[in-house]
Amino acid sequence: MKRNLAVVGVQWGDEGKGKIVDILSEEFDCVARYQGGHNAGHTVSFANRRYVLHLIPSGIFHPNVTCVIGSGVVFDPLAFLEESEAIGQALSINVAGRLFISNRCHLILPYHRILEAAIEKQLGERRIGTTSRGIGPAYEDKMGRRGLRVCDLMDAETLRDKIQVLVADKNRTLQALNYPQTIDPGPIYDSYAQYAEKIRGFVTDTSVLLNEMIRQGKQILFEGAQGTLLDIDHGTFPFVTSSSAAAGGAATGLGISPKHVHSVIGISKAYTTRVGSGPFPTEAVDSAGDEISTRGNGFGPKTEPPRRCGWFDGPAARYAAMINALDSIAVTKIDVLDTFAEIPICVEYKYKGSVLREFPADTVILSDTQPVYKTMRGWQTSIAGVKEWSKLPVAAQDYLKFMSDYLETPVTMVSTGASRDETIRL
Ligand code: GDP
Ligand code: IMO
Ligand code: MG
Repeated sequence: MKRNLAVVGVQWGDEGKGKIVDILSEEFDCVARYQGGHNAGHTVSFANRRYVLHLIPSGIFHPNVTCVIGSGVVFDPLAFLEESEAIGQALSINVAGRLFISNRCHLILPYHRILEAAIEKQLGERRIGTTSRGIGPAYEDKMGRRGLRVCDLMDAETLRDKIQVLVADKNRTLQALNYPQTIDPGPIYDSYAQYAEKIRGFVTDTSVLLNEMIRQGKQILFEGAQGTLLDIDHGTFPFVTSSSAAAGGAATGLGISPKHVHSVIGISKAYTTRVGSGPFPTEAVDSAGDEISTRGNGFGPKTEPPRRCGWFDGPAARYAAMINALDSIAVTKIDVLDTFAEIPICVEYKYKGSVLREFPADTVILSDTQPVYKTMRGWQTSIAGVKEWSKLPVAAQDYLKFMSDYLETPVTMVSTGASRDETIRL
């Protein structure tokens, strides 16, 4: 029987999901993104080129793979058009005909970004440190049952009125936030009416499409963005994103039954990073943290905000393994740890002198936990680009075996570099 697979981040995002989804895509007929928006940045590297995808599923580089942007995604049409154009030009491929956008996706409009900036400013020290893409306010409008969807965009006659009503409402909110300007709905309508014509050919009822593929026995990979600890329900609330990043989001975000999600692979870095604010028990605020940061992010786009870096957080990953019922794990970026003589792994949290049995819901408690570390032996040799398990130094094998034993989950892939081929399959 064909098996559908969900790919989820185990940590706070940027685990290397893009790379792993690209590799796994070869074995699937379809890759479907189920949540988030262009807050995601999924890097895929091959043939000495590097592509960063935001909205387009990471299966797009395989010409036989159908790609779907599901209804759980909040959709910024301009971001989509820029991205699809860039990918099309860079690869001389036509994405039309194998890339589909759900007609039920909620839209991000310019006022969502303005609102987000105003709210973050008002929060001051308590700000989330969002990606400023309008993600949170767009999901707020969805849950508040007033958002505009892609299907609204397809109906030019009523679109102007709908935008006018919503903008009037946003202007009242912005006034309350002391925002100095009012938004004019006219230019928003003009630009969105143009985007509508450009995306029309991609828009369809993607749940019909996916369910038909399932009926035909085709194999689908469900691509999660962000990570379990950024999930709106299960993450480190309020320092989370506004969508269901964990595997449960695949069903609601795509309009398929949970019965069709057959297995789940979790992607985890061999250490931990986080962007934005919020608790991070294993953060290394010393020279080791700087070293991980330089080695791990040194090659990233300069426009990206800095990542906070630290050691592998066992209790957090074990919690994510439970939430997603992980069948397997892909461990990425283990080469980043090459230079360390000793590598701490957090195996327990202590709070006020006692061991915490469960990952705390309260971020105040999480901020005050003391990580208890087990010290692993480092390998102090370059494992960058290693493609076989047997070529890994024993200390690196031991590190991975420990992660697997601790999480009671097999490690089935190990990534030793950004490129597609710098991967060990087990
Ligand atoms: P995603 O959001 O989970 O898809 O991850 P990102 O693409 O945002 O971040 C992962 C970063 O690490 C990217 O720059 C990748 O090219 C890079 N990367 C992925 N796997 C590896 C690896 O095994 N080793 C190293 N050194 N870099 C990697
Ligand atoms: P990928 O898919 C890392 C973080 C932001 C912020 C919080 C809320 O590349 O792993 P948002 O703009 O979503 O309202 O911001 O979530 N965040 C990410 N961190 N990787 C991501 O995506 C992220 N998407 C959002 O930094 O702390
Ligand atoms: Mg990313």
